[in-house]
Amino acid sequence: MSFTETKSLLKIAKQGKRVFDVLKIRDDFPILHRTVNGKPLVYLDNAATTQKPKAVIDSITNYYTYENANIHRGLHFLSEVATEAFEGARLIVKEFINAMSASEIVFVKGATEAINLIANTMCRSDIFKSGDEIIISQMEHHANIVPWQINFQKKNIKLKVIPITDEGELDLDAYRNLFTERTKLVSIVHTSNSLGTVNPIKEIIEIAHKEGVQVLVDGSQAVPHRKVDVQDLDCDYFVFSGHKLFGPTGIGVLYGKTKYLEKLPPYQGGGDMIRTVSFEKSTFDDIPHKFEAGTPNIEGGIALGVAINYLNEFNFGDITSHEQSLLDYATSELLKINGLRIIGTSPNKASVISFVIDGIHPYDIGTIIDTDGIALRTGHHCTQPIMQRYNLPATARASFAFYNTLEEVDKLIAGLNKVIKMFS
Ligand SMILES: Cc1ncc(COP(=O)(O)O)c(C=O)c1O
Repeated sequence: MSFTETKSLLKIAKQGKRVFDVLKIRDDFPILHRTVNGKPLVYLDNAATTQKPKAVIDSITNYYTYENANIHRGLHFLSEVATEAFEGARLIVKEFINAMSASEIVFVKGATEAINLIANTMCRSDIFKSGDEIIISQMEHHANIVPWQINFQKKNIKLKVIPITDEGELDLDAYRNLFTERTKLVSIVHTSNSLGTVNPIKEIIEIAHKEGVQVLVDGSQAVPHRKVDVQDLDCDYFVFSGHKLFGPTGIGVLYGKTKYLEKLPPYQGGGDMIRTVSFEKSTFDDIPHKFEAGTPNIEGGIALGVAINYLNEFNFGDITSHEQSLLDYATSELLKINGLRIIGTSPNKASVISFVIDGIHPYDIGTIIDTDGIALRTGHHCTQPIMQRYNLPATARASFAFYNTLEEVDKLIAGLNKVIKMFS
């Protein structure tokens, strides 16, 4: 698919939306038609990574077959084509999350790198002074804990943690009480990858802004499931990974308000991020290029644009409501299983169900159910503080995407009943 075709796809998406037909959607994802252990694949590990539609897979082949060249620096034909496609993808991302400008979209490896970029550059700037504080929560992915710890070693900065309730919701009263005159940033997950909780992110941002504090939102598990508008949220930074949004691995997005990105120092140094270089001094390019040192993941950026264009073919409301039906049905069927306990019971959840079964280790659940072709994730899901909160070593987790079906939920329930029978 050439960039011209990519652009025309975006136009089609804006004109008319596809009727939501899950079986037709499944036909767009070749991997969903394979078998695993002789059984049709039931892929319920979408919070870890999503499968890719053919348009995304084809765009990568197309890029290397017809368009491959390094971007930004060349005047030759292919370099211009590749640059136009890559920068076109930035525009597609900008529209997708409704950023004010494409220069607010920084391409990174993924959500992890985006948070590392902010933690590193904020700590190197004079934004953080010794004794300052940032607020995170007990339900953060390790990607929103460890980068702060590593970078805070250089300065005496404190992490303050919003506790979670037994249902898996943030304790907002405790949150309000965490602010002091030293609070510089709130860095918070939009939707929990372990509990499925959708946090009241707009309210969280409003509270922080009233205190004069900036907010970074980890939207990794939000963007595949609901429409996100960064201007409406009024978040100061927003991060997500392409591979959880039906795009390839190794590409992700850091959104930041212009006024804040401009104040941060560069993250890494090298080619493509400079204006002038001499042995005495270098000067840096404008945002977003200031943060994109070296040759980026060109085909990844383009393919992420194609993944978003693919999603734009649908009404996002149809995606959200189909996933809600899957979540509601799976929750009610799982609760019929004796000895099964769901971890994370907030009424505001998206597409993730973590659970434990009395007397059976989650690893045994995952291994045995895999023999039926059912892909579940088991473990701490990179959220060890959540496991500590509930005093659990691990959970089993089913996570849905819009291509999953109610029949697949039935297969999950049948598979779990088989596991329980083996252990009884
Ligand atoms: C909520 C959340 N944040 C951050 C990440 C890190 O994403 P990545 O490994 O793609 O950088 C994940 C991945 O599971 C996640 O679920």
